Amino acid sequence: MFKRPFISAIILMAGKGERFQSRLPKQFHKIAGRYIFEYTLDPFIASKDIAQIILVSSLDLPVALSHSKIKIVTGGETRQRSSYLGLKACHTSCDYVLIHDGARPFVTSKIIERNIKAVMQHNAVDTCIPCSDTIVQSKNETTIDRIPDRSTFFRGQTPQSFAYSLIMQAHEKALQMGKNQSTDDCQLVKELGADVFICRGDETNIKITTPFDLVVAQQMMHSSLCT
Ligand code: CTP
Ligand code: MG
Repeated sequence: MFKRPFISAIILMAGKGERFQSRLPKQFHKIAGRYIFEYTLDPFIASKDIAQIILVSSLDLPVALSHSKIKIVTGGETRQRSSYLGLKACHTSCDYVLIHDGARPFVTSKIIERNIKAVMQHNAVDTCIPCSDTIVQSKNETTIDRIPDRSTFFRGQTPQSFAYSLIMQAHEKALQMGKNQSTDDCQLVKELGADVFICRGDETNIKITTPFDLVVAQQMMHSSLCT
């Protein structure tokens, strides 16, 4: 008989937001009366496929989250560490896990569904969109080393989704190799030698990184609230 897989989602929100330049980390800012991370959580809470949500935070949450599938754990100094702590907190019967940035509040149910479908088939999935700007590589930030073919470049978003055993193995190998600063879980899986499948993201699935992104997010939220 088909056993329904146990799927967890890890929401990473233990970053300090240095590029956002505010004492209060960006995910704790409000848009239209709600905290950014509350918007991020909505489609994961609503998903019938996701059995558990691990919220990785280093600050106490300013609101009580009472949903039974949410478990809160403390994060670490780097994104890689927070991700690993989230993975260790997953249910012992976890089969698949979606790892998502808490600062990406426009993730949709569709993107989550696409990730779930793809990860059950491919074991490792990155949410990507085509690159509309030309990519220019410069190591000294002064002169250009190369301008690669844009059509072979994509922009990585989250969620990134994995078979639980594969992503655990990738993290443990990275730690053994002394690597602890990675900002991308798919990178760790690639370093294991495994394939990572691309699943279509959305231009609107932005990450709030700088103060400008908050202005954009406010506009986006406002227009979606008005429709
Ligand atoms: N994150 C985390 N733990 C860390 C670092 C980052 O959980 N030690 C989370 C952030 O809270 C964010 C996501 O990972 O939701 C993506 O990281 P990023 O946008 O880089 O956020 P920050 O690290 O907070 O920002 P910055 O790099 O500007 O300091
Ligand atoms: Mg960061």
